[in-house]
Amino acid sequence: MLVPTTGSEVTPVSIITVGDEEKRGVSSPLILPDLAILDPGITIGLPPAITAATGVDAMVHAIEAYASKSANNNPVSRVLAREALRLLGANIETAVFDGRNVAARGAMLLGSMLAGQAFANSPVAAVHALAYPIGGTFHVPHGLSNALVLPHVLRFNAPCAAQLYAEIAADAFPHLASEEGTQARCAAFIEELAGLSKKLGMQTRLREVNIGEEHLAKMAADAMKQTRLLVNNPREVSEADALAIYRAAW
Ligand SMILES: [Fe+2]
Repeated sequence: MLVPTTGSEVTPVSIITVGDEEKRGVSSPLILPDLAILDPGITIGLPPAITAATGVDAMVHAIEAYASKSANNNPVSRVLAREALRLLGANIETAVFDGRNVAARGAMLLGSMLAGQAFANSPVAAVHALAYPIGGTFHVPHGLSNALVLPHVLRFNAPCAAQLYAEIAADAFPHLASEEGTQARCAAFIEELAGLSKKLGMQTRLREVNIGEEHLAKMAADAMKQTRLLVNNPREVSEADALAIYRAAW
């Protein structure tokens, strides 16, 4: 049985650090619990910074699952991703700034679970691939690592995924429904996500988590090792692309 604080209860995946700095995924049905209880009460004491980082991570799960190039991306995973984004987008600010709000905490748990089910079917991609070197080498929490590269990876993906991002934009941020046109709505979605990190008090640049510019080239080389994730990205990522994304995020 699991009593989780994120969506990992519904995925067969566990991430472990190998050696000093490499993060690798282990996937086995044995990891899935027979029973998981989502109890918002146990997340009440979670500090704002961790609530923000894990909440954004769950949103990334839904976004990457929805746009995943995986052959397992299917109508069910897409419905799960969209409902997850509705719950997470509507409740993340309340959960961060009013941490004792049980309804918001419960909605975040449910959204995280649905996003977990979405990406257990339709796996995540370059945001996670580029986040791993940030977490593995510099021990930045997973959710924050994702948030730091999220807008930059989505901007890179936009030429291939604008339609998909435009489809889910108003799920996470309902006011974007008034944004006319695929390109404009996609761009507004990415800007909202970048603004959300700032609004939630998270660091938004790699330099703010003490990553020196001299490390970016090795990070790009390390990110390329995440082939199991990169194959799912809507746009092919080369090492030079990864470096350009890190530079933009720096
Ligand atoms: Fe994640």
